[in-house]
Amino acid sequence: GGETAGAGPTAGYPDRNITFVVPFSAGGPTDTVTRMIAEPMAAKLGGQIVVQNVEGAGGTVGAGEVARAEADGYTVLMHHIGMSTAPALYQNLGYKPLEDFEMVGLVTEVPMTIVARKDFAPATLADLVAHVKANADKVTLANAGIGAASHLCGLLFQTAAGVKLQEVPYEGTGPALTDLVGGQVDFMCDQTTNTSGQIAAGEVKAYAVTTPERVKSLPDLPTTTEAGLPQLQVSVWHGLYVPAGTPPDVVQKLSEALKTALADQKVIDQMAKLGTAPVPAESATSQAHRAKLEEQLGTWAKVIADAGVKAS
Ligand code: MLT
Repeated sequence: GGETAGAGPTAGYPDRNITFVVPFSAGGPTDTVTRMIAEPMAAKLGGQIVVQNVEGAGGTVGAGEVARAEADGYTVLMHHIGMSTAPALYQNLGYKPLEDFEMVGLVTEVPMTIVARKDFAPATLADLVAHVKANADKVTLANAGIGAASHLCGLLFQTAAGVKLQEVPYEGTGPALTDLVGGQVDFMCDQTTNTSGQIAAGEVKAYAVTTPERVKSLPDLPTTTEAGLPQLQVSVWHGLYVPAGTPPDVVQKLSEALKTALADQKVIDQMAKLGTAPVPAESATSQAHRAKLEEQLGTWAKVIADAGVKAS
């Protein structure tokens, strides 16, 4: 758009399509959350948002691409706890989460569910733990690559159960869930934003939800604490990032648009149906997100070290 007098170079922002990079496959939980907020954010920004899936290596390929993109506000990354796990898992990560990004704001925090193919023998979480202990060399555990939320939850499960299982990596838990429904893989830990539909449809067996409280939209699903595995607690926070050096007024416009999207009744209803909710408005800011990331980098480095997993 034309520059108004005295306005900075970004006064017309956005004046072309904005790309939201999802570092996992289409159809998975990260993709689902992104597509929920893209429309109301685009409306608020007065521009178009195109969602692009850039898969690979537990989300680090997509994150790396955004870290190296032009810092002009036209490339935005949707990511989650994977941003705080990658430094402890990848020796040559190619980006530094706290230095190579501006954080736009937190988006939502999603519970995880332990789900299995529907004809998998174990009936309860306790049965599942007993089963994997007795069949550790045969049971397959799906995830979305090293450093993905599904990988980390799988790690927490294996540490809690005292087993090491055969992990089957996918480029996202969208395709992983398809294989689970098809019976090609035994079980997985994944976000309610992905598994709720298949649980409700009876297409997968659900054992527990990994949060202290039950999820309203999955009232019959016990928590891991109720099911006897209280140490398996994890929820997946999501945030929006742009490359470091993006003009502050552009970051501010994106943060305002994010807050508007998170207050959008349609987004609130969609999230509630999928077991989650927008973060409160004061968390949809760069300060809140940076604080969260700083805290989580330490948290996950410890979990990974305790699990005896080395960066590779
Ligand atoms: C993960 O971390 O497992 C991802 O969220 C999976 C996905 O979004 O496809």
